[in-house]
Amino acid sequence: MTDHTIAGWRLGTRLFAAQALALVASVLTAALVAAIIGPPLFHVHLLESGHEPDSPEIPHIEEAFASASAVSLSVGLLVALVLALGVTWYVTGRIRGPLDTLTASARRISTGDYTARVTVTGAGPELATLADSFNQMAGRLSSVEDTRRRLLSDLAHELRTPIATLNAHLEGLADGVTEWNDTTRQILEHQTERLTRLVHDLDDVSRAEEGRLTIEPALQPLPELVSSALSQVRASYAAKSVTLADDINDLEVWVDPQRIGQVLGNLLANALRHTPTGGRVTITGRHGPGRSVTLTITDTGEGMSSEQLAHIFERFYRGDTARDRDKAGSGIGLTIAKAIAEAHGGSLTADSAGRDQGASFTLTLPASPRSHRRP
Ligand SMILES: Nc1ncnc2c1ncn2[C@@H]1O[C@H](COP(=O)(O)OP(=O)(O)OP(=O)(O)O)[C@@H](O)[C@H]1O
Ligand SMILES: [Mg+2]
Repeated sequence: MTDHTIAGWRLGTRLFAAQALALVASVLTAALVAAIIGPPLFHVHLLESGHEPDSPEIPHIEEAFASASAVSLSVGLLVALVLALGVTWYVTGRIRGPLDTLTASARRISTGDYTARVTVTGAGPELATLADSFNQMAGRLSSVEDTRRRLLSDLAHELRTPIATLNAHLEGLADGVTEWNDTTRQILEHQTERLTRLVHDLDDVSRAEEGRLTIEPALQPLPELVSSALSQVRASYAAKSVTLADDINDLEVWVDPQRIGQVLGNLLANALRHTPTGGRVTITGRHGPGRSVTLTITDTGEGMSSEQLAHIFERFYRGDTARDRDKAGSGIGLTIAKAIAEAHGGSLTADSAGRDQGASFTLTLPASPRSHRRP
């Protein structure tokens, strides 16, 4: 590690120099005042105490007075200087300790060690506040670094499967092992679609995480919003023989229809993916607390354990890792859906009584511009 110590007077030297300067100035002032006022005053006192003005003792007494004054002032200055040195040493010690700790920790952080933290006690509220802010900064840096690392490894992981599939098929085609037919074309198309979708989702996720998701809200009739989302998925529900029911009150919501369509699409696709044939998915729309509207999507599918529930809104989290990894999405859908709900000033929560007990997702949205509050 390079030592970036900056040349110049140290804190202790500067403190002591300042104190010494103040002391010398006050002793000089005292000496000057004593030299101007002291002798005439002393002379008057001598005369008042019965000495004749031309007494030969007077010059002696006055000389003794002058030298006694000079000696006391010099001794006073010396004692004060020694005291100042002691005080400076003590105060500097109290300040330098924490400053050295802060410097050492800042150096550790600059080399990428984000675990560095400082504890400062007994150095006054200012240094304690500085240490507190420093620790907060270190914590924030550490979590940003963590997110970056996780994002990169998740991303590499996500890219690996489609790229490997594409490679295998392309090699097979080149070697003549794989035939070019509809199935091959579909596989290749599916993988490139997956990559394309990943790029779009990643863009949305990074916008959401930086709070840059753009929404253009307007007053929308809830039944229309829901029926348009349902019409997009009806065919796939029918194909899997999962019943799709809706019970939407005649309400209005203050939302961006495109964005909420994206959220509903994801929730309905999830419900279908996790509900076996013969199951049922119901969407209900009701007045929510305050001036809000809640949309609840309930399914009779495989449900979630409390462990899964705690993670489903995390980026790239997929509960069913082993079961049907390739069929499943990339685990970004709910992260984006929650960010969109929050960008509207609403919320998205999940609930499940456990594995094979079904799941329900509740989307809360503002009913009017007045109840719309930015998070
Ligand atoms: N209705 C549901 N029933 C059971 N589990 C669910 C349900 N909805 C979501 N999950 C769980 O939450 C995880 C994350 O869902 P999310 O929508 O974020 O990702 P995905 O559907 O796997 O992929 P993507 O939506 O990005 O295509 C899923 O992998 C699944 O384990
Ligand atoms: Mg999804």
